[in-house]
Amino acid sequence: MSDDTDDTPHDAAPISNRSAAVDGAEPADGEFTVTPYAVAGEIDYDKLLERFGADPLTDEQIAQFPDHPMLRRRTFYAGRDVDRYLEAAESGVPHAIVTGRGPSGPMHLGHVLPLYLAKRFQQATGATVYIPLSDDEKYLAKDQSFEVIGEHTRDNLRDVLAVGFDPERTRIVVDTADADVIYPIAVRLAKHLTPATVEAVYGEQDTVGLQFYPAVQATHLLLPQLVDGRQPTLVPIAVDQDPHVRVCRDVAAKEALPVSKPGALLGRFLPSLEGPGKMSTSGDAPSIELADDPETVAETIRNHAYTGGRSTLEEHREKGGDPTVDVPFQYLRFFFEPDDEKLEAVAERYRSGELLSGELKELAIERIAAFLDKHQQRRSALGDLESELEPYRLTGAERRRALERAGVPAQF
Ligand code: TRP
Repeated sequence: MSDDTDDTPHDAAPISNRSAAVDGAEPADGEFTVTPYAVAGEIDYDKLLERFGADPLTDEQIAQFPDHPMLRRRTFYAGRDVDRYLEAAESGVPHAIVTGRGPSGPMHLGHVLPLYLAKRFQQATGATVYIPLSDDEKYLAKDQSFEVIGEHTRDNLRDVLAVGFDPERTRIVVDTADADVIYPIAVRLAKHLTPATVEAVYGEQDTVGLQFYPAVQATHLLLPQLVDGRQPTLVPIAVDQDPHVRVCRDVAAKEALPVSKPGALLGRFLPSLEGPGKMSTSGDAPSIELADDPETVAETIRNHAYTGGRSTLEEHREKGGDPTVDVPFQYLRFFFEPDDEKLEAVAERYRSGELLSGELKELAIERIAAFLDKHQQRRSALGDLESELEPYRLTGAERRRALERAGVPAQF
């Protein structure tokens, strides 16, 4: 069976994201918008799957993934085409992960968790991991100079390196710095990307630059296969990035490239400190940055974290708190308390009123600070960026192979 022809029914559905509310207007009650460039309203994660045509993960699929709290607790809760990836991972044949970063500012907690998940997959089953940094996209989408975007790119690269991927099995690309390989492939894919599709999927874009960018991200998602040959590829991302996967699957099939359509592993957003919704560096909402010291983490959580506690001590003792909306608890659940029993014990003590919001905050602070401390130690142990990055960059041979497979062989 050829991968190029087996359209799942979902892919045949129109790939539009448009709800009643698009393009900037605040969605009405019960409505929401999710595209790579706009997230608004209260997200109904199940409805979103219907809209996007993705499937909830089954218990069986979750059991097949390397054990990780973000899967067990369904932070990553849905996917498209994950079985092919799981089969390859299980039988030890080549398989790849692509998870990228748009370098528009310092990285915060929500940005790095998918990278740690990718590292876990790499350690568990030997997955090849590709990490593209879309500096072009952020230059186009944000009001920042190339100089500033460049500073964020170099800063973010240090955080990516600090995660500790295996250089033998990991490639990091930066769109403007690796344009020799990315641009020709993106052009080939762009041939099949019509303005109508782009508008249906992403909404109206301000510039032709952003209209073209989906061809670049589609290139990222195919890159492991173009470099190393056809293999199941999985893209673990927050749901807002799913449109890029759908567009990639669509154009990859039209170009008859020697690749399988990449699959997606779709995640919920880490709640913002101020309550449900997307964590964003661009908004004014306070957030925890990877560079924060323990005092800053403590202050940020003490002063800004939304809690599920009651307004008075007596009421809390009597009626208990609500862990489902409590942001410090949700942080523990997302990542920072991997032990299910311990997590449930915390929830129980909170619900019963025994544990106070302030105490729960301190618990989260301690865990997050310990995690950041280790991350920061690895980051500060890095030498100069260029030499640290070198073993992760595409080699000359890899670049030529990718261009050849994409049917755009290098000129010189
Ligand atoms: N567009 C993503 C963002 O804005 C970053 C990104 C670029 C990415 N290429 C990717 C994410 C490939 C996942 C896979 O955050």
